[in-house]
Amino acid sequence: MRPSILVLPLLALTACSPTVQTAAPESAAAAAPVTAPILTGADAVDTSSYARPAEARVTHVALDLAADFAAKRLSGTATLDIDAVADAKEIVLDAKGLDIRAVTDDRGRALPFALGAADDARGAPLTVQLQGARRIRIAYASAPGAEALQWLAPAQTAGKVHPFLFSQGQAILNRSWIPTQDSPGIRQTWEARIVVPEPLKAVMSGERLTPDGEPAGAGRRAFRFRMDKPVAPYLIAIAVGDIAFQPLGPRTGVYAEPATLPAAAAELVDTEKMVATAEGLYGPYRWGRYDMIVLPPAFPYGGMENPTLTFLTPTFIAGDRSLNGLVAHELAHSWSGNLVTNAVWADSWLNEGFTSYFENRIMEALYGPRRAAQEAWLSWADMEASLKELGPDAPGTRLHDDSGADSGGIVYDKGATFLRTLERTVGRERFDAYLTSYFDRHAFQPMTSARFLADLRANLIRGDADLERRLLLDQWVYQPGLPANAARPDASVFAPVDQAVAAFNAGGAAAAVPYAGWTTAERLRFLNALPRQLPQPRLAELDAAFKLSDSGNAETLFAWLQLALANRYEPAVPAAERFLLGMGRRKFVSPLFETLMGQGDWGQPIARRLYAKARPMYHAVTTSAVDKVVK
Ligand code: BES
Ligand code: ZN
Repeated sequence: MRPSILVLPLLALTACSPTVQTAAPESAAAAAPVTAPILTGADAVDTSSYARPAEARVTHVALDLAADFAAKRLSGTATLDIDAVADAKEIVLDAKGLDIRAVTDDRGRALPFALGAADDARGAPLTVQLQGARRIRIAYASAPGAEALQWLAPAQTAGKVHPFLFSQGQAILNRSWIPTQDSPGIRQTWEARIVVPEPLKAVMSGERLTPDGEPAGAGRRAFRFRMDKPVAPYLIAIAVGDIAFQPLGPRTGVYAEPATLPAAAAELVDTEKMVATAEGLYGPYRWGRYDMIVLPPAFPYGGMENPTLTFLTPTFIAGDRSLNGLVAHELAHSWSGNLVTNAVWADSWLNEGFTSYFENRIMEALYGPRRAAQEAWLSWADMEASLKELGPDAPGTRLHDDSGADSGGIVYDKGATFLRTLERTVGRERFDAYLTSYFDRHAFQPMTSARFLADLRANLIRGDADLERRLLLDQWVYQPGLPANAARPDASVFAPVDQAVAAFNAGGAAAAVPYAGWTTAERLRFLNALPRQLPQPRLAELDAAFKLSDSGNAETLFAWLQLALANRYEPAVPAAERFLLGMGRRKFVSPLFETLMGQGDWGQPIARRLYAKARPMYHAVTTSAVDKVVK
């Protein structure tokens, strides 16, 4: 039996009415709904998707695909289960560069289909005439340049022997390898059978049913996966390569290439504790296992919260676990993002701001208030810098941002600050109880800013007019800049570092700075607080005293290179070259090229030379950013 579409009424932007209860589980013990609701109304219209889910929507995706490394294609079939109104004639899917070979119903009868005009961002609508079908099968192949996929040559891996493939779906890239409704408000369950050449292994962001695979003929093996909880389709992810696994705890473990696995596992030893800590804060982890895969260095992000299988950059491996806030962040998305999901990308703060706040709470619970306060302060400083750069009235500084402007990620820090402000205003105990109940009430459902505010008013504020007045909720969510009630993190945590900066600025020796004894956050604070213009001898002194160009910590190396390259400090160029050719994380790559391009006759030739070498190694996410910088 197929459940019918559940449609939730939209709450007006300023509505104070209680949220509508849905078929969502009351508690973690309850199973996830098979079909998740779709929101209707202006604030839930996804302008990044061609889908018209109120007419016909995908509820389940079954993939049967083979990976062809020579052709750089995934090809096979996607079988979609569809929920549609009785008189629905057609379903509209998202497709980007897909080679669609045939569409049939479940008895093999051909169904008419058409690919509409494509645009660069969204790709094309794929419209299928249903002719009464409620299950359709699409035979297709992804294009060799599919934006979600990166096909790595052996030279781009740690082992150097086998090729590697990984996907990155967020935000709207999965339509380049899966023909479905690629919209975060249209949750879908899924299953997959993936055929790969031996001896490679495939892993995906769902239950891994055949860890060692099954014979699939002609030197190939098949791997099967299942996600029985409805997820936003950007969370379907795959990696294929020479992948080994090491357990970390009863429900945690790490995948990586064999050469990377020992260092990865050492860096991740606290993961099992992290999951328990997160549960202690905001309720049960509802996804079964929490595993991670440490990818080759071309992975364009720090991390990606693919359910049951977080994808991680190897650049978080510092040797001392000082960058494992990244793991806390991706784990936190198991609640904010994967369980309760932004219905539209204009509300990505509901994913990223909540998660940044949650991340810091995990760090505090696990490592203590000092480390958490230091990291919160760095985030606050980033936010202030972005506000200054963009200007306090810039539309891109709003949490609910439908301007399409590049906000430089301010929703992370401003969103976290908003939640910290709520916490400080109502008290931690009360706010934590509210957040736990919020995740429970909206588990496996889409969320919008308006619905969140309505939920907050119904379940936290409860008509307390004085509290409502003090919180400035609408200003926080819909206005640019920073509201006056913003909760500042404790700045005293960096007082000793700021004193060291002052002493150095007054002419003190670099050797007098107690850098070696500092935490990574303190080192970052120090490097980023130094004047942006420094004479060459002072840079040389810093480099020699703290071995900055040889740093094995990607964050401190990045902070140093930003300073050094902005001052045309030639001795740092080889380190910049090693770094930029050794990994493809956009957050590091793009600003470093920008800095070089800002250095005229000195920096621009270096940037062009390095980019010519590095570009073929980078993911499309990174090249599309750097192409705009290096011309
Ligand atoms: N979900 C994001 C990554 C993302 C965001 C991909 C938007 C595509 C579009 C992930 O959780 C994230 O925020 N990663 C950060 C690390 C985090 C510690 C701030 C990153 O990749 O740097
Ligand atoms: Zn995130």
